[in-house]
Amino acid sequence: MIEKIQELRMAAEAAMGKVNNEQGLRDFEIVYLGKKGELKDFAKNISKVDPSERKNFGQAVNALKRDIENSIELKAAEFEQKKMEALADNEWIDITAPAKDHMRKGGRHPLSSFIDEVNELFTELGFSHADGAEIESEWYNFTALNLDADHPAREMQDTFFVEELKANPLKFLSDDRDLGMVLRTQTSSMQIHYMQKNKPPLRVFVAGKVFRKESDATHAPVFHQVDCLLVDKNVSLRNLKGVLQEIFSKLLKKPDVKIRFRLSYFPFTEPSLEVDIGFELKGNKDYWLEIGGAGMVHPQVLKNAGLDPAEYNGFAFGMGIERMLMIRNNIKDLRLFFDNDIRFLKQFS
Ligand code: DAH
Repeated sequence: MIEKIQELRMAAEAAMGKVNNEQGLRDFEIVYLGKKGELKDFAKNISKVDPSERKNFGQAVNALKRDIENSIELKAAEFEQKKMEALADNEWIDITAPAKDHMRKGGRHPLSSFIDEVNELFTELGFSHADGAEIESEWYNFTALNLDADHPAREMQDTFFVEELKANPLKFLSDDRDLGMVLRTQTSSMQIHYMQKNKPPLRVFVAGKVFRKESDATHAPVFHQVDCLLVDKNVSLRNLKGVLQEIFSKLLKKPDVKIRFRLSYFPFTEPSLEVDIGFELKGNKDYWLEIGGAGMVHPQVLKNAGLDPAEYNGFAFGMGIERMLMIRNNIKDLRLFFDNDIRFLKQFS
């Protein structure tokens, strides 16, 4: 009987020699080690073995079983190894290969890029960047800028009042002289904050959102302004003109742009000026376009901010950011900036 074990071992070795894939290995395992497999079947012969030999027989059968199990394990490891090698050969990725050109990159919104340009230019010209709050007290937005409660100019700017805050003012935003809060209607509200916190000479600008209740092709309830303030001794309109010349020639990309002042009215400047820019358009050498407001800071505004108008004076100006970009790129409808139409936005990337 013991010799038969040797025959079984040889048969198993021969069969294993023919196994060449994982399915073959599973079949082999069933044939030799399965519940109804060769080894179980063979072990039944123990009843025919002489009792004195049974121990040897049992040990020999167990040894064969272990050897078959080991050979299965080895074969499985060999297959696994081959599989990994094939994977490494077939599925490697070249991480240094250049990206496919169908990858689509996003772009910045034209207004965001333009505001970056504005910030950069004003900083280059020596103006400090201020932020200012979008929710502002009526005092900073109107009163301190010389628009008192029943000033007709408060009607000019249709205002969003923040009722919630009116009832429950946030201390850090509100000056306690005035509890009413609004969404700022003009970035000029920054002027008083800045003059209260800093000593002249001052050069400062803010570029950001303003809010008004209006909406058509050239007006939106939210739009952007840049407001600029310079306070020093002996400031003149000539200084203002020079700065505006520089700013518009750069921002509008019109190196030979002309600046023209027209007398106007703003409560916070005296004199007040409407700023026009002139350039050549379609053969018309004398084309003028209104672009912003400006003036010499009103003495009362300096006083409201705690400065002595006998010692200091200054200029201020403000302009619409969308308007500048519309002029620069010949855009006719302001709403294009807010519609998020990809065909429009793509032209700027
Ligand atoms: N804040 C004004 C507006 O929104 C624009 C303006 C005019 C700003 C004159 C100024 C200025 O700083 O001096 O219409």
